[in-house]
Parts: sequence; C-alpha cells; structure tokens
Amino acid sequence: PRKVIIDTDPGQDDAVAILLALASPEEIDLLGITCVAGNVPLDLTSKNARIICELAGKTDVKVYAGCDRPLGRELVTAEHVHGKTGLDGPNLPDPVMPLCDGHGVDFIIEQLRTHDAGQITLCPLGPLTNIATAFEKAPDIVARVSEIVLMGGGYFEGGNITPTAEFNIYVDPQAADIVFKSGVPIVVMPLDVTHKALVTKQRNDAFRALDTPVGIAVAQMTDFFERFDKEKYGSEGAPLHDPCVTAYLIKPELFSGRHINVEIETQSELTMGMTVADWWGVTDRKPNALFIGDLDADGFFALLTDRLARL
Ligand code: BDR
Ligand code: CA
Repeated sequence: PRKVIIDTDPGQDDAVAILLALASPEEIDLLGITCVAGNVPLDLTSKNARIICELAGKTDVKVYAGCDRPLGRELVTAEHVHGKTGLDGPNLPDPVMPLCDGHGVDFIIEQLRTHDAGQITLCPLGPLTNIATAFEKAPDIVARVSEIVLMGGGYFEGGNITPTAEFNIYVDPQAADIVFKSGVPIVVMPLDVTHKALVTKQRNDAFRALDTPVGIAVAQMTDFFERFDKEKYGSEGAPLHDPCVTAYLIKPELFSGRHINVEIETQSELTMGMTVADWWGVTDRKPNALFIGDLDADGFFALLTDRLARL
C-alpha cells in the first residue's frame, strides 16, 4: 500500500474521502490525518476528523490540528454548504479519541524526514496552508514527497466560490502557489471532474441500503450536502469532490486527464485563486500537474459503496 497523509477540513465530502481511505488498507497505509481551517474553523475540522474515525471504528488513527488560518488572508469558510458544524446531516456523537500532541505541520515534516524519500503521498482535501507551511519551514522535505493528489481548482467548469475560483484554492491562493511551484508531481481533481461524481437518488439509496452506521451516515451527509448544489446549480445530487482523491489512490484507471501547466492567480482580486490551466498547451510553460477532466462515475460509485460496506 501507498503511505499516505490526508490533509483535510471536514466537510461531508472530506468525511466520505476519509472513510474510503479507512476502508482500503490494501491500497492506503494511512500514516495520519492533519486538519486545516477551511470549510469551518480548525477547532471544528479537527473535531470532525475524529468523529469520522470513530464512526469507522478506527480510533487509533493519528489526527493532528494544523494551521488555523491561511498564509496571507482572512479565513473564508463555507457553512452555507456544509452547515454550522461542517458535518451537518447525521447526528454523530462527539469524539472520545484525543487529538495527537504537536502541530500537524510538524507531523508532516517529521514523517517525510523519517521515511525513505519517495515513500509518502500527500492528499490535501482542503486549503493548502499546512502543506505550503511545511514546505516553507522544511525545504528539505519537498524532494522527498512521492506525489501530491489534491482536490482543488476548476477550469472549464469555472469556480464555486467566485466565478473563477474553486473554494480550496481561493481560501489560500498563496499556499496553492507554493505547492504548484514546488516541483512535486501533482494530480489535481478540479471541479471539472468532481461535478461529474454526483450522488443521484439511486446512489444515495445504495449507501443507505448498506444498513450500517457508516452507510446511513454517508447517506445522511450526502442528503444534507446536496441541497446546496441542487438549489444553486440544479445538479442531480451532491458532488463528491474529495472522495475523487482517495478513489484515485485505489483505482487510478477510473480517471483521465492531461499533464499540463497549472498556475495560480494570487494578485488580481477579480480572479483571485483561479487555477490557470493550460489545457490546450498554448504556452511553453512546463507541465507541473496531471489535471483530471473525466471519471467513470458508475465505477467510482461501485468502488465507494463496495468499500464503505466493509466498515
Ligand atoms: C471543496 O471545497 C469544500 O467545500 C469541499 O470539501 C471540497 O474540498 C470543493 O470546492
Ligand atoms: Ca474539503
């Protein structure tokens, strides 16, 4: 299995991404979860991550709190999508498992330094503050990262927090810029693909039909999460943004994209946080990311439902 650190701001879709990882030990050796401020403030994201581990019965997962605000901007949150707790929908108990001592950024640095180079994959599911902070604090770790598989950005699909920016990149464009310029191989799951991973009624029924605490909670989370996209975009159901990242680790053949150059807008207020993706190769800027554009949605939901059934 790949050694993985999930960096996250749960969020219902982050929660499903984490559950998929916890259900897949053959492919994913989860070293730990680092939390960041994003969908909701850090105290809630670091609580929600533990709620999800406990829901899955995995109380030994290491969960760390990381950065509580973006590098150079005020924190923007998304309660309008995820609810006040960030995890609205199911009624899950407060976590008993504690947060690990120490800062999430230091955990990332320490893990990369103590494992052989090229061993660890980073999976950011929220703003890139923790990853960029780790790279700035310990530049020696950058070359030791095997790959970054992240959810963020959008190109043909535009933005979901401004007309041109996707939430994760918009919240901390400076951090995203550092990560995209780091030279680490990056796989990007932008809105272009995640808006094709929609929880239709039938797919939601399949989660519920698992008739387990996990299956029912996932159905309730996607029910809650979907009301936003239904009202706002008239879409068929909730887009499972972040689970695209963990599904890619398990079955990359479900996804297709192009290896292209992606730059982050950090100057213009109008287009702040835009992922400027050279999809058509109209510049000679060096490719720095595999930008995913499509997925086999039925295959993705079959994998997800099948794995959730194990928990
Ligand atoms: C991203 O923003 C958050 O609201 C979701 O958890 C996802 O990571 C989608 O734009
Ligand atoms: Ca997220």
